[in-house]
Amino acid sequence: MRILLLGSGGREHALARKLIQSPLCESLFIAPGNPGTAQCGTNVALSLTDFESIATFCLDHQIHQLVVGPEEPLVKGIYNYFTETPSLSHIQVIGPSQEAAQLEGSKAFAKRFMQDHGIPTAAYRSFNATNFEDGMIYLAQHTLPIVLKADGLAAGKGVVICQTHEEAQSEFKAMIQEQKFGNASANVVVEEFLTGIECSFFVLSDGEHYHLLPSAKDYKRIGEGDTGLNTGGMGAISPVPFVDEVFTQKVTERIILPTIHGLQKENLIYKGFIFIGLIKVNEDPYVIEYNCRMGDPETEVVMPRLESDLVDLFQHVSQGTLHQTTCIHREEAAATVVLVSQGYPEAYEKNKVISLPSSSESIIFHAGTQEIQGELVSAGGRVMAVTSLHKELKHALKMSYQTIDQIHFEGKNFRRDIGYEFV
Ligand code: AMP
Ligand code: GLY
Repeated sequence: MRILLLGSGGREHALARKLIQSPLCESLFIAPGNPGTAQCGTNVALSLTDFESIATFCLDHQIHQLVVGPEEPLVKGIYNYFTETPSLSHIQVIGPSQEAAQLEGSKAFAKRFMQDHGIPTAAYRSFNATNFEDGMIYLAQHTLPIVLKADGLAAGKGVVICQTHEEAQSEFKAMIQEQKFGNASANVVVEEFLTGIECSFFVLSDGEHYHLLPSAKDYKRIGEGDTGLNTGGMGAISPVPFVDEVFTQKVTERIILPTIHGLQKENLIYKGFIFIGLIKVNEDPYVIEYNCRMGDPETEVVMPRLESDLVDLFQHVSQGTLHQTTCIHREEAAATVVLVSQGYPEAYEKNKVISLPSSSESIIFHAGTQEIQGELVSAGGRVMAVTSLHKELKHALKMSYQTIDQIHFEGKNFRRDIGYEFV
């Protein structure tokens, strides 16, 4: 198999590392990749949304499998572009169709989907410029806090939790009338606030059958004790200690099966990862969001815990024969801690020289790094994710923190309390 993986973050480094472990992987290209993925295959300078150039590369390099890491190309229809172009339709694309990717691309679509298929989620209503005044009245009467969500992709920033009616109305106005998130907030979902503990389920599906991947929990806030601004993710653990058999059974019956059946009923083609962000309210799961791809940094704990051959699984995903395979998870727990640049998630400096230990028991995944004249430097807010595996979560965390002590760059910042509720 000759494989092209799209993306350039820690998630893609974790996927690349897993893909090259497969005896079925003949060569791996990553576009655009990062210095970490360059250790797994060949980085190629391609834009993620330039489908024509991606297609030319695939044909020139006889690519068999195209694995899509981030959501943007999926929401923009890369699956359809490949499968509907005769010269490209032999290439196995791992990801949902454009129509199905709306589960992430449009919150209003996802909510409508959940409502139609009886999938538990927070009560909601959608608004836009045409029913703006109804929205203002609705907000004035809503119980607090109120959750406002920009309908479209807003780089993880489109969710605002408002503590007062005035704040909610002013935010609502900013989103719809002042286009706070551009076109992404032309439609706004207003949602009931749910109280509970969050975790994520990852499903790999061929559209008809599926496997459950290891569960994970990420830590989104910048500050210890889950305080401060939201980030892309400061760390993650897997498995999630409170995700036991009973809870998994509830998630399967109430969420995963209705999701797969719903996709089928609506003729939505889905051959890829479904990331289900959940909140456990008392003992019951509710869907907070769907994503049409793997999570970052969750992938950095999920992939190291996956025993099965990912290339083989992807082949079966593409052929619709996932039921002929098994999906084995490793027993050990995994923990990842993300190293970020000083200032992140607000303005931060780049180009800080990074020094790494010559050897480590942890896996060091690159995210925002770059090589300039042979020197490794920071190139993003989230710089690296340090993952360790151990039968005890506590020990896995300790190993990651020990490795972090040996990684140096100016302004290195990280949370010291990843997994704190469970150790
Ligand atoms: P999202 O971008 O949809 O993942 O939302 C970002 C974060 O907002 C989630 O991880 C939750 O912590 C929080 N959130 C979203 N929706 C709700 C809700 N209905 N109730 C409580 N918290 C929520
Ligand atoms: N870590 C959350 C995400 O990937 O969306």
